[in-house]
Amino acid sequence: MNSPAIEVLGITVRYGRTVALDRVTVLVQPGRICALIGTNGSGKSSLFKAIMDIVKPDHGTIRLAGGKAAGARRAGLVGYVPQSEDVDWSFPLRVRDVVMMGRYGLMDFARRPSTTDVLAVDQALTRVELIDKADRQIGQLSGGERKRAFVARGLAQDASILLLDEPFAGVDKRSEVTISAVLRELADTGRTVLVSTHDLGALYGLADEAVLLMNRVIVHDRPEVVLQPHYLAEAFGLQMRRVDDPVPGGPPIDERPTDEDPPSDGAPADPAPDVDPPAGTLPADPPRTTEDGDPT
Ligand SMILES: Nc1ncnc2c1ncn2[C@@H]1O[C@H](COP(=O)(O)OP(=O)(O)OP(=O)(O)O)[C@@H](O)[C@H]1O
Ligand SMILES: [Mg+2]
Repeated sequence: MNSPAIEVLGITVRYGRTVALDRVTVLVQPGRICALIGTNGSGKSSLFKAIMDIVKPDHGTIRLAGGKAAGARRAGLVGYVPQSEDVDWSFPLRVRDVVMMGRYGLMDFARRPSTTDVLAVDQALTRVELIDKADRQIGQLSGGERKRAFVARGLAQDASILLLDEPFAGVDKRSEVTISAVLRELADTGRTVLVSTHDLGALYGLADEAVLLMNRVIVHDRPEVVLQPHYLAEAFGLQMRRVDDPVPGGPPIDERPTDEDPPSDGAPADPAPDVDPPAGTLPADPPRTTEDGDPT
C-alpha cells in the first residue's frame, strides 16, 4: 500500500489552557476525500492549521505526501482554503490575483506570471464558474463566490493535497454541487482532499471517509459508519434514534454496514505515542513555512 498522503500522528494542540486537539491521529490515503465533522470548537480548523504550520502542536508528528510536512508545503504540494472568518476580505486584491497566488510556488523568484500561469488561473476560474467576475475585488464577491474563488486558488496551485475548511458554509446548492464535483475530479486524478463540513446529510455524496472530531478522534471510517446514531450522540449530544431508522441522505437500511464490515483503509489505528514537542509557540495567521526544517 502507498504511504498515506496525510499523516497526522498523535498531535496535541493547545491555546493557553484550551486543548483544541488531544493526541489526534488521522491518516488519509492518496486519492481519497476525507470529511472532517464535529461541533463548533471540536478542533477542525486547528487540525488544518496544524497541518499548515499556522499553529504548532505540542506533541506529535505530521507528514505530507510521503515526506516531511515542511518540505511538502514549501514545494506547493498542499493547498489550503481557510475558513472565511480567517481571511481579510478587505485586502485590495482582484479575484484573479487571489487565484494567481496559488501559482506562486510554481513561479521563479520574480513571480512574473507566465502564459501557463495565466491559463491555469483562467481555467480554474472557469471551472468554479467565476470567470466573469475575475476582475472584481475579492471583497465584492458574495460569500459563496468567495469560497469558490479560494477553491479556484487550490485548483490553480495543482496541489496533490487539498485542505478545505468549511467550503460549503453559507453557499447555495449550485455552488455546493460545483465544489463537490471539483473535489471528486481532483480525487479521481489521485489528489487527496481533507474537507470540513457541518452538512452531515451531504456526507455520502461528498466523501469516501469521515473523521468525527471532539477535540480527539471519536471515529474515522466510512460515512455510513461515522453517521451511526451512537457516534453522533457522543459528538453532538443528539437524541439516540432507533437503530433501524435510516440516516438522513444515507443508503437504504438493507445496504447499511454490519458489524462484520471491515473498516476503511483510512481508518486510524490507536493514537501514535507522543514524540518530543517541537520548539516554538502558537503563532497567529497568516500561513507560513518554516525555514529551518520540519518542525512537525
Ligand atoms: N486563537 C485561538 N486562541 C484561543 N483559543 C482558540 C483559538 N483558536 C481556537 N481556539 C479554541 O480551540 C478550540 C478548537 O477551535 P477550532 O477553531 O479548531 O474549532 P472548529 O471545530 O474549527 O470550530 P467551528 O466549527 O466553529 O469552526 C475551541 O475551544 C476554540 O475556542
Ligand atoms: Mg473551524
